[in-house]
Amino acid sequence: MTEKIKVALLGAGNVGSQAARILVEDNATLAERIGAPVELIGIAVRDTQAARHWDADPALYTTDADALIDAADVVIELTGGIEPARTRILRALQAGKSVVSGNKALLAKHGVELQAAADASGAQLSYEAAVAGAIPILRPLRDSLAGDRVTRVLGIMNGTTNYILDQMDTTGASFADALKDAQDLGYAEADPTADVEGHDAASKAAIVASLAFHADFTIDDVHVEGITGVSAEDVAAAEADGYVIKLLAVCERDGEGVNIRVNPTLIPRSHPLAGVHGAFNAVFVQAENAGELMFYGPGAGGAPTASAVLGDFVSLARRLVLGGPGVPDTSYVQLQATGLGNIVSRYSVGLLVEDKLGVLSNLTRILTEHGISVESLRQSSPEDGTAMIRIVTHSAKDSDLRRAIAVIDGLDTVREITSVIRVENN
Ligand code: HSE
Repeated sequence: MTEKIKVALLGAGNVGSQAARILVEDNATLAERIGAPVELIGIAVRDTQAARHWDADPALYTTDADALIDAADVVIELTGGIEPARTRILRALQAGKSVVSGNKALLAKHGVELQAAADASGAQLSYEAAVAGAIPILRPLRDSLAGDRVTRVLGIMNGTTNYILDQMDTTGASFADALKDAQDLGYAEADPTADVEGHDAASKAAIVASLAFHADFTIDDVHVEGITGVSAEDVAAAEADGYVIKLLAVCERDGEGVNIRVNPTLIPRSHPLAGVHGAFNAVFVQAENAGELMFYGPGAGGAPTASAVLGDFVSLARRLVLGGPGVPDTSYVQLQATGLGNIVSRYSVGLLVEDKLGVLSNLTRILTEHGISVESLRQSSPEDGTAMIRIVTHSAKDSDLRRAIAVIDGLDTVREITSVIRVENN
């Protein structure tokens, strides 16, 4: 066996504590797999006395992250947030120390800078845990599919919103009640903004798109719409038409660029992603030669996410022992992130209208004038002089649809456009 590999852990939250546990409890097994002894030399935290999900040797806790990084061979960063995580990771990479991180927000914003620092010093940077928890998706994109051409990725990459939408679908709950349920169960934070507004999934989509299309994208390249506007009526109407609403991250080729978006989406109940219930995540990948692949599993949680962290650690530690370079990310393609205007999709549009003669023909005339053809139309009249209308369109350009909606919204007989949701068929 070669020399001992000294590991510094930054952060002892839910995932950090579980990573520490595995490093200590499975130490002998990890050493066998790596081909060298492994030692957790310290855990950098803000408060050395705080309660933890797993209690490491108290002597391991320190508030001096820089000294710990300087003494280590490998750094595992599980603190989250942009700073001081960015500065600390750069410190490690610039000193040639390989880094494992689960920090999606940081990687989606500063991934290019961090990768450049790793490349400059010959260190490795791995971050499987940043996307979809335990699910191996980044390594398959970077490694297993390196000889193929990915055309599209559809992902349920946020467990909290999948839980909420699944509750709405299976119990008829409102968004507010399903969110409260998710908070009671500990899925959603007290401030659930990052989840329900789609920002968490958008970070993951930027990371996935970069690896899938060998180009550099950041969170600023992602069009984001969360699920706060999805109503029980939208969910019921989708169900009546044979669909389920999911918050999908979609990364797909769009002409000479790539379109990356996170938005509520209707998918047919027969689609593999429709069977992803509760807080589970799944990523559906379409590639030219492989065809369709789906990766499924727990997208969050201490031990599942720590599993991905340790997988990265063993993989890069093995390479330290063997002396070879890691499998690098490639971003050799200059691809632009595209706007939504040219995206072609079907749409489900919900409207609350006056129940009067000519309202329907007015709606269909405006759609026709914008080149949008109606696939199905459903109306219910609650006998208060109004009608709820649900139109599913054939494929239409986003810009045409938006223009038609703006005209419809100006009609005296239209009280409210209650929702406009994309429909994905495959
Ligand atoms: N809050 C995330 C989710 C987990 O609900 O999936 C970490 O990304």
